[in-house]
Amino acid sequence: MQSNWWHSAVIYQVYPRSFADADGDGVGDLPGITAHLDDLVDLGVDAVWVSPFFTSPQRDAGYDVADYCDVDPVFGTLDDADALIHAAHERGIRLIVDLVPNHSSSDHPWFQEALRAAPGSAARARYVFRDGRGEHGEFPPNNWQSVFGGPMWTRTAEADGTPGQWYLHIFDSSQPDFDWTNPEVRDLFLGVLRFWLDRGVDGFRVDVAHGLMKEPGLPDVAEPDAVAFGAGPATLEPAVSAPVQAPYWGQDTVHEIYREWRALLESYPGERILIAEAWVDPLPRLADWVRPDEMHQAFNFAYLETPWAARPLREIIDASLATFGSVGAPSTWVLSNHDVVRHATRLALTFDNPQGHGIGLATPNLPEPASALQRARAATALMLALPGSAYLYQGEELGLPEAIELPDHARQDPTWFRSDNQRYGRDGCRVPLPWTAHGATYGFSASKHSWLPQPERWRDLARDLQRCSDDSTLSLYRHLLAVRKDLQLGSGTVRWLDSPRPDVLVFQNGLAVIIANTGDLPITLPEGDILACSAPVEDATLPEHATAWLRPSNTVSLPLP
Ligand code: NOJ
Repeated sequence: MQSNWWHSAVIYQVYPRSFADADGDGVGDLPGITAHLDDLVDLGVDAVWVSPFFTSPQRDAGYDVADYCDVDPVFGTLDDADALIHAAHERGIRLIVDLVPNHSSSDHPWFQEALRAAPGSAARARYVFRDGRGEHGEFPPNNWQSVFGGPMWTRTAEADGTPGQWYLHIFDSSQPDFDWTNPEVRDLFLGVLRFWLDRGVDGFRVDVAHGLMKEPGLPDVAEPDAVAFGAGPATLEPAVSAPVQAPYWGQDTVHEIYREWRALLESYPGERILIAEAWVDPLPRLADWVRPDEMHQAFNFAYLETPWAARPLREIIDASLATFGSVGAPSTWVLSNHDVVRHATRLALTFDNPQGHGIGLATPNLPEPASALQRARAATALMLALPGSAYLYQGEELGLPEAIELPDHARQDPTWFRSDNQRYGRDGCRVPLPWTAHGATYGFSASKHSWLPQPERWRDLARDLQRCSDDSTLSLYRHLLAVRKDLQLGSGTVRWLDSPRPDVLVFQNGLAVIIANTGDLPITLPEGDILACSAPVEDATLPEHATAWLRPSNTVSLPLP
């Protein structure tokens, strides 16, 4: 197999609850993924990252793990996991699993033991238990606010029923944070890594990789609400206005953990990889996460958060290539995942929508779906032309928009509940996929039930319909991925060319010239073969909000007319 495969790989995120349901309980499962692997081969991806499928009470859709070395019955069995890994490898697809080391589920035997144990015991020392403030310990130990809303601390009751210590949870109260200064915790996770490496997985996406270590003393933060998920909106440079780095994000001490993991992965055959989910700001700090002896890749959330506009896009592309390139790592690119509003809606929003807040029917000024999709297709065509590794989120290849019309009673994201229904949360990007234009769940489930209701208009976006249409978003993705592979764009370079207008980006990557029109007016293309285009081109005119890849007849004729 090719070496350094991850430098240019296209990695497809499967969110297993919503991918395909083989057993008919309304929730997707591992056999459902295995059954559809050929669709992913057909799409042209190199690897699949599967969000958590481990034993879990599912209070945060599996990001609350009660047993890291077993499969939750809702998703299948360990045999099903083995079958999936095997079937993926048979098809030349790498399989990456999700590791959730910042916290466990409150159902984890260690946490249950800690609750039963006395303050100061070894069992409590695996998590972050502290006495409360106030005369009777009635106030949380500090003022940190949970990412999902409300305090980051929950008070326990001691064995005799009296109010007891508090425990820390960056996320939901059902997700207690481990104390990563405790060697027992380190050993637990080395064992978990070995368990899955021995089963043949090709790597780990590391959840909340920036959260494991906390500043000693757990000091109060100046602005509790300003530091929710990462450090605030992405910035390229440390600015005076940049939010203060919170004492629970991106501590320097976290890196030695990943060095130990990297060494473990290197001791296995093949090229297994670590990918950091680290919302670190500003972007140049992310370089620390992908030094040669640490993680292989880090998600480029600064790119995801960049608006569809030429200038900021060019800045973030340059900054990303420089940041990751400075330590010899590939840049990554991503537009959607299970935590953000789908980019087929998001890129046309005209208001701020902080990560995780989501949108719903009561959100004012929602964009018009067709023009939003047009931007999304253009943005994807730009992303897939960039050198490095690109991440796709299931359903974006169908052009799925955010499911805005979800009824309140169907919502399941803890964000919705912990914010007293003030934030819609992330359910709108997690709705089960439409595979077929017929059937109660559009082919998602063998039954008539899907764990979140699918919007009716998704019938027209079903994969089987799109497979038969050359103009569909699915056909566009298949084509882009095929040309990207053919021309090896993933391992190319970006050379900016003169642009005729400030809202148009023009660059060369290998044999292709990429023209991304982020503006509201069409633009005339230079002469050449069109290799791919996100919107129909007539009379050599690239429409507004569209991206074309072309092989110019004569590069000297550039810049564009
Ligand atoms: C990041 C995951 O992507 C998100 O879905 C989850 O809720 C939090 N981490 C907590 O694990």
